[in-house]
Amino acid sequence: MKIAVLPGDGIGKEIVAETLRVLGRLELKLEFEEAPVGGAGYEAAGYPLPEKTLALARQADAILFGAVGDPRYDALESSKRPEQAILGLRKALALFANLRPAQVYEELAEASALRPEVVAGLDILIVRELTGDIYFGEPKGIRQHPAGGREGFDTMRYSEAEIRRIAHVAFKAARSRGKSGGPRVCSVDKANVLETSRLWREVVAAEAKSYPDITLSHMYVDNCAMQLVRNPRQFDVIVTGNLFGDILSDEASMLTGSIGMLPSASLDANGKGLYEPIHGSAPDIAGKGVANPLATILSAALMLRYSLNQGVAAERLERAVKLTLRDGYRTADIYTAGTRKVGTAEMASAVAERL
Ligand code: IPM
Ligand code: MG
Repeated sequence: MKIAVLPGDGIGKEIVAETLRVLGRLELKLEFEEAPVGGAGYEAAGYPLPEKTLALARQADAILFGAVGDPRYDALESSKRPEQAILGLRKALALFANLRPAQVYEELAEASALRPEVVAGLDILIVRELTGDIYFGEPKGIRQHPAGGREGFDTMRYSEAEIRRIAHVAFKAARSRGKSGGPRVCSVDKANVLETSRLWREVVAAEAKSYPDITLSHMYVDNCAMQLVRNPRQFDVIVTGNLFGDILSDEASMLTGSIGMLPSASLDANGKGLYEPIHGSAPDIAGKGVANPLATILSAALMLRYSLNQGVAAERLERAVKLTLRDGYRTADIYTAGTRKVGTAEMASAVAERL
């Protein structure tokens, strides 16, 4: 099994290196090949997503991705910004289904920004559509405004086919989670204002008819942002578009204590996937050895499960992370009094030992 390793920028390098060390402890025949991406790709080849990197990603069985982004490249034209690398990979490989689970580990309920009794036991899944919406809609640009000055514009759009396929991913995921009280899907949109959302709601509702066991509800995105902090446990699976999913998944991550804990999987129609932590490159702490590697380690577990058919190894890895937290290891982002503060490498070693 060949894995394309794309560490990217900032803390991406450290957390991916530590994750590979942990994966090395599993007795699996994994072959790793590394390539530059993001700012590192720009340095190496003049583009955030060099051709060789894309070719490697295409032929690998799965992709382990760190993070991209660096303020040094903020002034570049948008096609050369590091973010284009991840957007380009998602689009080129048709990774339309982004799964972002948010779980509260018992041990970390204290680290949440919300009261422990509001988040204890939280286990939700955000299913974010990843290759459509205002992220990719044409036309977009900055142009002369007829009344003088310039205007920026983007286009939000979703086809019925795109909505349908992400709805199916969400319904199937809800089924397989087997939540007590039955599977529930909440579709999030802005149908009170946007035409795109009106179509979204109509198509999701029509598709739900093939899943009579699933309770479907609809919610406006502003209300959902509020409900996520008011009573997050009301949710099971949330399905939404690219932009709303981007925002809501950052919000959901803080319910769990730290954005440093959340993994993600981005899948195509055949289960090939790219796996990355949902946090970014965190240039402010890059190179200091203090970043939390757990989101990347947990992303590797998702990779074992969804793309490499190694469900048992995935569970072992997830259990090792739980044990590490139970034993009190904490990076700075999840540290609370009475626990043991460690850096990136020590955290990964603790996971490896428990594995
Ligand atoms: C994410 C990130 C990306 C996105 C950026 C880096 C382009 O925020 O994966 O959530 O907006 O999708
Ligand atoms: Mg984001």
